Amino acid sequence: MLPAPTTVLNPTAAHDQLCWLNGAFVPLATATVPVLDRGFIFGDGVYEVVPVYARAPFRWPEHRARLRRSLAKLRITDPMDNDQWASLVEALVTQHPWSDQFVYLQVTRGVAKRDHAFPDPAVQPTVFAMTSPLTLPSEDLRRRGAHAVSLPDERWLHCDIKSIALLGNVLARQAAVDAGAVECVMYRDGMLTEGSSSNLWVVRDGAVLAPPRDHRILEGIRYGLISELCAADGIPFMVRPILRSEVESADELLMSSATKEILPITQLDGRPVGHGEQSGKPGPIGQRLHAGYQRAKTQA
Ligand code: PDD
Repeated sequence: MLPAPTTVLNPTAAHDQLCWLNGAFVPLATATVPVLDRGFIFGDGVYEVVPVYARAPFRWPEHRARLRRSLAKLRITDPMDNDQWASLVEALVTQHPWSDQFVYLQVTRGVAKRDHAFPDPAVQPTVFAMTSPLTLPSEDLRRRGAHAVSLPDERWLHCDIKSIALLGNVLARQAAVDAGAVECVMYRDGMLTEGSSSNLWVVRDGAVLAPPRDHRILEGIRYGLISELCAADGIPFMVRPILRSEVESADELLMSSATKEILPITQLDGRPVGHGEQSGKPGPIGQRLHAGYQRAKTQA
């Protein structure tokens, strides 16, 4: 069971928002962690971003399972069981006024004297959770599609862990922003990996191509969902390494994430994506998947 909030809440202004920090709800604006927290010192922790529609967390069991996997890969003790995590998310959502939210969860290895090796004996992990209004891509962006730029993937080789150590992703995203783009399209050894904060999908000859779920990419919760949507809609779904040349000659290019849902990329490196009439415009497979996603939201 979670303790009752310690503050009377009118969370219409940012300074009234609450967050969960190590066992209590406290005002977000003044919540602090010790400077020796290993999240602050080493980026030694993991996180989740969970979309909430009409106050219900979407695909919560999948997000919870990925959080558990990320913690296990870093050998951080899971600080709560399934019920406690679910209660925390529910309490956080209930205490904020927005119907659609995105919940951010973070666990770090905890506070210890600075030493790269894990503290021995282990210390209590730091648990932090907050929520924000979920702002989806505007209709205008959805109609025009996003612009993206190609970049070498310079991140580490454990991209399957949803680690808070995101400097490679941060620099990649900023390179996209500097180029006036929404996202980047990254390649390692000539093969497509993912975006700075989204998975990427290539449509060729009516099929959706997905990069393999290995250490080179984060397995987005939308990865499983998109394969289900394809199966339900009769769209071939193929998992295999994708060459840069296949991306550059794609019929459609799509990105997916908790906060973008499924969004078409219509320009890559200043050139239109797609062919003929469809060139530079959102394509039919992306539109079908987006429609399927909207249906999945209402059925959850
Ligand atoms: N990012 N790949 C990376 C590197 C990501 O950061 C994300 C999500 C995804 C897509 O995962 P999902 O479908 O579970 O959102 C793929 C979140 C939204 C973020 O860091 O804010």
